[in-house]
Amino acid sequence: MALLEVSGLTRSFYGVHALNGADLKVEPRRITGLIGPNGAGKTTLFNCISGVVPPDSGTVRFDGRDITGWRPDRVAAAGLVRTFQIARGFPRLSVYENLLLYGDRQLGEAVGAALLRSAMVRQREEELIERAHAVARRLNLARVLNDPASSLSGGQKKLLEIGRVLMASPKLIMLDEPVAGVNPSLTREIAEHLRGLVADGLTILLIEHHMDTIAQLCHHVVVLAEGRNLAEGSFAELAHNAAVQEAYMGRRRWAS
Ligand SMILES: Nc1ncnc2c1ncn2[C@@H]1O[C@H](COP(=O)(O)OP(=O)(O)OP(=O)(O)O)[C@@H](O)[C@H]1O
Ligand SMILES: [Mg+2]
Repeated sequence: MALLEVSGLTRSFYGVHALNGADLKVEPRRITGLIGPNGAGKTTLFNCISGVVPPDSGTVRFDGRDITGWRPDRVAAAGLVRTFQIARGFPRLSVYENLLLYGDRQLGEAVGAALLRSAMVRQREEELIERAHAVARRLNLARVLNDPASSLSGGQKKLLEIGRVLMASPKLIMLDEPVAGVNPSLTREIAEHLRGLVADGLTILLIEHHMDTIAQLCHHVVVLAEGRNLAEGSFAELAHNAAVQEAYMGRRRWAS
C-alpha cells in the first residue's frame, strides 16, 4: 500500500492553475521522483501536501490517514517533513544549533510552559542532543558541527537542510531540489546519503532537475506538466517518452 497518496489536487493563485488535478502515489521504502519543467507545479504540490498552502480541492492521504488541509506542524508530527527549494534555517547559528532548533519544534505546543523544566522535557532534550550528533555523523557534518551555518559550502547547506528534516524522526521526507547548484562530487555524496537513508527504512519523494540523480536514485518517476500528470514510470521509460521530451523543450533541457 502507498505511504502517501494524493488524488485530484487543485490549487490556483489569482486565476493561475498551479495544480490542475494532480495525482501521486509514493510507495514505502522507495525513492519516488517528481519531475517536470519550470512552473509545472512541483513545489506547489509539496506545499499542498505539507500544509504550507491549502489545496482548493483533492485529497492527501498519508500513512492511512486523511491529512488534507492539516497545518504543517501537525503534518510533520505525523511523520511527513519537507525541505524548501531555497534553504531555510538560521545562518548565524551553528550547524548543531540549527539541528537542535528544528528538533525542538517537534516538541509540540501542547507541552506548554508549565512543563518546561519537567523531567519529561529534560529527557526529550537529551534525546534531541543525541539525535543531533547522530544526524551530523550520518551526513558527514560532524566536523563542522560548531561552525556557523553561513560558513558551509552550498552542498553542505543542502546536507544541513536534509539533517534538519531528519531531526523530526520522519517516515517520509520530501526534498525540493536537494542537489541544485551543488558540485558534482557533493552531488554524488548527497545521492549516497539518500540511498543509505532508504536502506534504513525511510521513504523519499524527490523533486530534482538534475536528471542523472533522478536516473540513479528513483525507482519510480512521476512527470508533472502544467499542474497535471503527464506520464510516469521508470526513468528509462520516460526518457523515451515523446510527450515528456516535448514538455521539456525550450524550457529546460532534458537529461542535460
Ligand atoms: N504563492 C504563489 N503565488 C502566486 N503564484 C504562485 C505561487 N506559488 C506558485 N505559483 C505559480 O504556480 C505555478 C507553479 O509553480 P511551482 O513553483 O509549483 O513550479 P515548480 O514546478 O516547482 O517550478 P520550478 O521547477 O521552477 O521550481 C507557477 O506559475 C507559479 O508562478
Ligand atoms: Mg519548484
